[in-house]
Amino acid sequence: MSSPTNSRTQLTIPKLLEKVQAGGKLAMLTAYDAVHARLADAAGVDMILVGDSVGNVCLGFDSTLPVSMAMMNHHLEAVARTRPKAFLVADLPYLSYHLSLEEAIRNAGGFLQRGAQAVKLEGGAKRLPVVRALVDAEIPVIGHLGLTPQSVHAMGGYTVQARAANEAIQLLEDALRLQEAGCFMILMEGVPAELAARVTQELEVPTIGIGAGPGCDGQVLVFHDLLGLLPGKSAKFVRKYMTGYEDSVSAIARWAEDVRGGLFPDARESYTLPEPARKRLDEWRSGEARN
Ligand code: KIV
Repeated sequence: MSSPTNSRTQLTIPKLLEKVQAGGKLAMLTAYDAVHARLADAAGVDMILVGDSVGNVCLGFDSTLPVSMAMMNHHLEAVARTRPKAFLVADLPYLSYHLSLEEAIRNAGGFLQRGAQAVKLEGGAKRLPVVRALVDAEIPVIGHLGLTPQSVHAMGGYTVQARAANEAIQLLEDALRLQEAGCFMILMEGVPAELAARVTQELEVPTIGIGAGPGCDGQVLVFHDLLGLLPGKSAKFVRKYMTGYEDSVSAIARWAEDVRGGLFPDARESYTLPEPARKRLDEWRSGEARN
């Protein structure tokens, strides 16, 4: 498939860092299949995240907790097959990096073997050993702090994090320690804008925000949120750039109406039978009728 951005060169960690050092902001979008990946890459995003939000967005779960390595591998492979020029990140799902360092390396390394260029995992100081182990195994890691959906029960819901002074200090400390352990980027979700901006100033590695205000080095959004593909009210931090849900429902309803009214398909969507074949068919049918 050709697209105007196929001429882009492959984005890599040094290129992302260069962009941020030059004062640019990074645009990261989630993608869960080849269609999403092609759209995101054609639009020229810097980074594609195969997020474990696939559980909520595509698989009908009400949290990311049931998402398995098999599910993530399936979706990562679909995205990777499109060979995006955007830097490709895969989310380590719940329990894929909690049980042992060996298992974490195997799971994260499997992502790299399937085409990811980095992995993302959730949590602060508790994750330092696993971050070090992955970095030692040549696996680039993005840390994810603040509202970490895999800790939904520990947090007591999907609420803004680190509003209290001690929590804000803890988050900054976690970010510094993740950086020291080797994370090349820190993602902050659902935290006050002032705190995210402060963390961004204090860190040497770039930050990516979602619900973390404009002061980060880049922003990430969920594909379906950006295009307005999900019904109902969205989170405060979402900006819909399209009325995807309403427009899709209306298009499908128009098609169903055309089918029921005999208006679809018409000649434009139909194949023709060449004249000799039609004639031969008529002759054969009248012969059959005589016998
Ligand atoms: O899984 C995901 O989509 C994420 C983003 C919301 C950051 O982790």
